[in-house]
Amino acid sequence: MVKSIKWLLSDAKAVDIWIKHWLEQKCRERIKIPKLLEAMEYASLNGGKRIRAGLVCASNRIACQYSNKVSDNSVIAVAASVELLHAYSLVHDDLPAMDDSDLRRGIESTHKKFDEATAILAGDALQTAAFEILTEPNLALTNTQKNKLIRCLSIAAGVSGMAGGQMLDLEAETRFFNIERVTQMQRLKTGSLITASVVMGGLVGGANTALIKALSNYSENLGVAFQIKDDLLDYEGNTVELGKPVGQDNIKGKASYIEHYGINGAVKKAEEFAEKACDSLQDYWQHAKELQSLAKLAIKRTY
Ligand code: IPE
Ligand code: IPE
Ligand code: MG
Ligand code: MG
Ligand code: MG
Repeated sequence: MVKSIKWLLSDAKAVDIWIKHWLEQKCRERIKIPKLLEAMEYASLNGGKRIRAGLVCASNRIACQYSNKVSDNSVIAVAASVELLHAYSLVHDDLPAMDDSDLRRGIESTHKKFDEATAILAGDALQTAAFEILTEPNLALTNTQKNKLIRCLSIAAGVSGMAGGQMLDLEAETRFFNIERVTQMQRLKTGSLITASVVMGGLVGGANTALIKALSNYSENLGVAFQIKDDLLDYEGNTVELGKPVGQDNIKGKASYIEHYGINGAVKKAEEFAEKACDSLQDYWQHAKELQSLAKLAIKRTY
């Protein structure tokens, strides 16, 4: 399913090359910490779907269409930044103190391959790398743009974004969550970084306020659809294809759409959120094909 979107593969490849190059440059710096760099590379260049990178790039392309800007390589750096932040979130998510998961992207989780302390530090360094990249002097971005991007990503990653959502996620194992609370958790832990990806791509492409609003609407709905599908895959996917353990949420009794609506109900809800995401772009439909295909992919994927 993922493989069928050619442009996503091409964006993913460009981002992989960019990250590899960035890490190699770090290797050449005077203070050499090979083990940490190795763990960072292990956690970030290991075959993720690069959906967030695809969102940054596709959103950038739609924005460029309406602003008459020409997309340049700075968008790849921004996509790399988001993917590194995401990679950090996965490394920490898998730690024994969190989801205690030994498998990620079809290989041992970072704390299994290395050790817990190294995984924590690799996560820390991946997170700061994301922000360091956004300040690179050679990016074709103004300081105002960089400032907006950093603000967007830091809010998405912090207490009112991913980290806050992960806190709720831990509580969701032991407390009853009504559907509003489940939705809030999904929006924060997963949706916020998805929204940041889309908005950041738009900002780099010079999107005006109306387009940023439409893109935010699209991505907020997409984020929930994406996490409902992730939960469905945990419930009924298979480990080999997914590259991560299945059945974990059920064992831990984690609150979810499945718990509230059952499998078929959750599938339907994911479809509704994906549809709402696409509807948000109806004023921009001529150039919205890529983002629409990502919304479809988010709910139809098998891994
Ligand atoms: C997994 O995200 C974690 C969630 C926030 C649901 P992805 O399914 O995008 O994971 P990768 O990057 O492809 O491994
Ligand atoms: C999303 O939730 C995790 C992050 C925000 C990092 P999950 O814990 O369900 O993600 P997977 O299933 O481990 O990829
Ligand atoms: Mg988790
Ligand atoms: Mg997890
Ligand atoms: Mg999951």
